Amino acid sequence: MSKIIFDHVCKTFEGGLRVLNGVSLKIEAGESHIILGQSGCGKSVLLKSLLGLLQITSGDILVDGISVKDKKCRQKYLRKFSILFQGNALFDSMTIIENVIFGANQVNSDKAKCRKIAEEKLLAVGLEKRVFDLYPAEISGGMQKRAALARAIAVEPEILLFDEPTSGLDPITGGVICNLLNDTIKSLGVTALTITHDLKVAEFLADRVSVLNKGNIAWTGKAQDMETCGNEFVENFHRASNVISRKSGR
Ligand SMILES: Nc1ncnc2c1ncn2[C@@H]1O[C@H](COP(=O)(O)OP(=O)(O)OP(=O)(O)O)[C@@H](O)[C@H]1O
Ligand SMILES: [Mg+2]
Repeated sequence: MSKIIFDHVCKTFEGGLRVLNGVSLKIEAGESHIILGQSGCGKSVLLKSLLGLLQITSGDILVDGISVKDKKCRQKYLRKFSILFQGNALFDSMTIIENVIFGANQVNSDKAKCRKIAEEKLLAVGLEKRVFDLYPAEISGGMQKRAALARAIAVEPEILLFDEPTSGLDPITGGVICNLLNDTIKSLGVTALTITHDLKVAEFLADRVSVLNKGNIAWTGKAQDMETCGNEFVENFHRASNVISRKSGR
């Protein structure tokens, strides 16, 4: 069975705005899947629906066969996920290591063990000991991203969700972070779902890419096949992304 199944998912907001219009997609265990699409096409709505933060209007979402609508299995369902938010969402009043201990503490109650796990995770994402006791505001955006990743993996998730993982980073740091995410996904063997409008992220991270347009999946396939996939919207999206990246020197 697929790890995540979106089964004809529809989401209409009050007032009648239909953002998701029958999204069907299967994501396999251990796969790194990217959902790519223009700003406003419904990527975040899809991610929030997966986490049950938004209630879908019809259809279903299943994770290991558990429905997002099954209230009795809510905790078991949510425990499978960890999310790296766009803005990192580190706690400003906690040091870097305290932030990661907070993550480890979600699944482990032994204080000393949590500290050891936090140290391991911070080193694994390439942060040096000298930053462990600093506050988020005292480190760079790239380092904050690493710290947020360390906290996300300290929860020992089965599924990692990345929301625009390179936003706010310069192209070089963005590339470094993409490589780190890739190494992390592969070394942990987790299933990863990333939402982004950045083609470069898709090319770096994806085993498969799905393009979301007008409330539906327009195409699913390998990033390198996008350019010649035969779907007009997908090919145009690919072309436009490359023009933008050439103009911005990426
Ligand atoms: N809670 C809400 N109530 C009403 N409309 C909403 C709500 N959340 C999102 N929308 C609408 O759904 C549409 C899709 O929004 P969404 O945030 O999913 O876009 P996105 O693809 O994530 O865009 P971006 O790349 O800019 O983050 C937008 O038109 C937005 O206004
Ligand atoms: Mg969004």
